[in-house]
Amino acid sequence: MSNLPKINIPPVKAYFPEEDKEWVASKIKEMLSTGILTLGALGKEFEKEFAAFVGTQYAVAVNSGTSSIEIPLRILDVAGKDVLVPTNTFFATAAAVVHAGANPVFVDMNPETFAVSPELLEKRLTPRTAGVVLVHIAGLVSYQTKEIADWCKKKGLWLFEDAAHAHGSTLNGQHAGTFGIAGSFSFYPTKVMTSGEGGMIVTNDKRIFEEAQLYRDQGKTSFLTNTHGKMGYNWRLSEPHAAIGLVQIRRLKEILKKREAIGNFYNTELSQCEFGQILKVPQGSTSNYYKYIFIPNKLNDRSSFKKSFKEKTGVSLTGEVYEMPLHKQPVFQPWAKGNFPAADDLCARHICLPIFPAMTMEEAKHVMASLKEAFYG
Ligand SMILES: Cc1ncc(COP(=O)(O)O)c(C=O)c1O
Repeated sequence: MSNLPKINIPPVKAYFPEEDKEWVASKIKEMLSTGILTLGALGKEFEKEFAAFVGTQYAVAVNSGTSSIEIPLRILDVAGKDVLVPTNTFFATAAAVVHAGANPVFVDMNPETFAVSPELLEKRLTPRTAGVVLVHIAGLVSYQTKEIADWCKKKGLWLFEDAAHAHGSTLNGQHAGTFGIAGSFSFYPTKVMTSGEGGMIVTNDKRIFEEAQLYRDQGKTSFLTNTHGKMGYNWRLSEPHAAIGLVQIRRLKEILKKREAIGNFYNTELSQCEFGQILKVPQGSTSNYYKYIFIPNKLNDRSSFKKSFKEKTGVSLTGEVYEMPLHKQPVFQPWAKGNFPAADDLCARHICLPIFPAMTMEEAKHVMASLKEAFYG
C-alpha cells in the first residue's frame, strides 16, 4: 500500500499576479468609457512588444492561433497546392491548411524531437508541394530546425512555423517563429501565455505584415472603407483580449524561468530512470516546457492509467501532444494516405506531466514520487 499523501495538482494553471489582474481591470474600465473595444492602442502595443520579444520586425494580433495560421497561408496563396504538415499536431494546424484551400500531406515524426525532419519531409514531397508547416511540439525547437529551413530553400518551398506551443523557446538564441517566412502563436488559456483567446502572426516580410492586417478585418482595403480587396474574415483581436495579452507578454520572462525550474527538476529526476524516457532538450536549445513529455517503456491503457493515477495521487496529467495523430482523425481521412510508424507508436504511449509557473517544489516532488511509485510498483 502507498504511503504517499494525496495532493491535488491541476494539469495547468494560468499565472496572473494580483497587480496584473488590477491592471487588466483598470484597462477594461478605461475602454468601457472610451468605447474603443477592438483594433485599438492596446492591440498595437501588444503587437509591438511581442515582435520585440521574439525579434521580428512585424507582428499582427488576431483572434486565435488558428487564424494566425490560416491568414499567412492565404497570403502565400496555397489554394490547390500541397502543404507538408506533421501528423502529430493539433487539429487546427491541418484544418487551417484545408480552410485556406490546400491539401495537407501528413509527415511522420522524429522520435528524438517529436518534430518532422528533412528525411521525413523528403519522403512526402509531391510535385504540388508549396511549403512546410513546422510545429514546435511541446515547446521544443528541434535541433534540426535550421536543416529543415535549408532543405525548404533548396527545394524552393516556404517554411512556416506553427509556434502555438513555443512562446519564448529558442535554438541557438533564435526564437521559435522566426526561422521561416512567418510564424504563428496561440494564446488559448492553457498555453504558456494567454490572452483568453487570441493569436499572433510574426514575420520580417512586409507584404505578409501588410496583407495580414487586411485579412483580419474582413479583407477591407482600409479600416474606414467598405471596399473589400481580399477574402478576409472577422479575425480581429478585441481590446480586452489585448490587455490580457499585454500583461502576459510582460510576465513571459518570469513565466519561462518558473517553468524551467520545474522542467530542470523533472529532467534531473527522470533522465536516468529505467522505466521510460524524457524528450531531451538539446544543447543550444531552450524549451518553455509547454508540455513535459515522458515516454514510459510500456503503457497499455493510457486513459485508465491517467484516471487511477489521479484517484490515487491527486495528480492530473495533462493532454497529450497528441493522443490521436491527424492521419487517424475521421475528418482527415481524405488526406490520410501513408505510413506513420513513429507517430502511431509514440502518440499512443507518451504522457504529459503537470507543469505551470505557480507550481511549488513540493508539488513537483509529489509528481515525481507518484510517477516512480506507479512504474516501480
Ligand atoms: C499546435 C497548435 N496549433 C494551433 C492551435 C490553435 O490555436 P487556437 O486554439 O488559439 O486557435 C493550437 C491550440 O491548441 C495548437 O496546439
